[in-house]
Amino acid sequence: MHANRNKTVINRLGLALLPFALALSTNTLAADTAPDGEVEVLNWWTSGGEAKALGALKDELSDQGIGWKNMPVAGGAGTNAMAVLRSRITSGNPPTAAQVLGYDAQDWAERDGLSSLDEVAKAGKWDEVFPQPLQQFAKYEGHWIGAPFEIHSTNWVWANKSLMDELGIEQPKTWDDFIASLKKAKDAGYTGLAYGGQPWQDTTVFENVVLATGGADFYRKALIELDPEALDSATMTQVFDHLRELLKYKDDNSPGRDWNLATAMVINGKALYQIMGDWAKGEFLNANLKPGTDFMCFRTPGTQDAVTFNSDLMIMFDTDDAQQQQMQQTMAKIIGSPEFQITFSQFKGSVPARMDLSADKLDACAQRGYEQVKSAAKNHTLMGSMAHGYAAPASVKNAVFDIISSFVNSDMPSDVAAEQLAAAVQGATS
Ligand code: GAL
Repeated sequence: MHANRNKTVINRLGLALLPFALALSTNTLAADTAPDGEVEVLNWWTSGGEAKALGALKDELSDQGIGWKNMPVAGGAGTNAMAVLRSRITSGNPPTAAQVLGYDAQDWAERDGLSSLDEVAKAGKWDEVFPQPLQQFAKYEGHWIGAPFEIHSTNWVWANKSLMDELGIEQPKTWDDFIASLKKAKDAGYTGLAYGGQPWQDTTVFENVVLATGGADFYRKALIELDPEALDSATMTQVFDHLRELLKYKDDNSPGRDWNLATAMVINGKALYQIMGDWAKGEFLNANLKPGTDFMCFRTPGTQDAVTFNSDLMIMFDTDDAQQQQMQQTMAKIIGSPEFQITFSQFKGSVPARMDLSADKLDACAQRGYEQVKSAAKNHTLMGSMAHGYAAPASVKNAVFDIISSFVNSDMPSDVAAEQLAAAVQGATS
């Protein structure tokens, strides 16, 4: 982690290259690409709502005299961003900091190249204010390595309110009601489900169905504990049946569609619902729409008692440059501060990752969401999202993505999908 530079260099290059490694400038791996007084921050926040939220960090830094060099890599859930980050690190040119998720944060920490955030965390009482399920990922071997921006949850439905009114649709309480309302929209000539056909989005919808069909214990067994019996079970077969049913209500242009374009279909009244994490709300807010009036938010029917979460962590790359070190600590302090946690979530659609804040300034969806996250944290039903790297390491996540997306894009029978899912997970873990 915050080990000295030479040790880090040696770890990365191997002992055979030792003389060469020692001859290298000590700045080789340092976060030294940003000009003086600037932080370079790798992230995938490129949609309207995301960029606004990121702007809140840039503004805070600017107030403290710190400049901003943005390093955006478009692509939801960070799939592309992680590839770019890997190549920056391999070429010895890390940014000052990067947005990462759950298991990826642990992975970077294990490679021994991150700055410790322990001092800031201690001063800010992070051990007390951030929930345990999140600390498991933001700390490595007892040390803080990631500053949590927020808590997002993936089990939300975003709905167009005037379409609901026009079609006489009440907020569905059960899975059957949910499907019936989608059918109503389809029969009236609308798209029921705004859908983005990308692997991480397929799995976001899938994990919603897992929770809705099997409940929290089943979700944990199958997607977190990776229990082969749960993965290849009658319940999982039923999950795939439900997913197949849901897919009847997407449109034919869904393959490859970005998540925010799917959100725009709901915003523009082309589609009734989108199942998506609450960053989707950032798009509605960015279009000046109000929850309860212009759009509705509700937990995916059947998932009210649990929350599948992800949280963006800012990790900082180890550097010898004292100014960069200072700026990294300042950035971590800002991200963890009560005021920033509220401001950021107001743009991003999330809820604060700190559990000790007043919800007064949050909108109606986030107020409810914040309460649900808090009670899920108490009841052990705050569970990591598979699609967003909080349920299983990247190798398993990618294996799951493959199976779910082949199911979505073919006529694969449900029992075959369950069997293949179990086999793919086993292959990725053995
Ligand atoms: C998630 C990330 C969110 C949001 C989303 C879509 O993985 O945690 O902050 O940006 O991807 O890009």
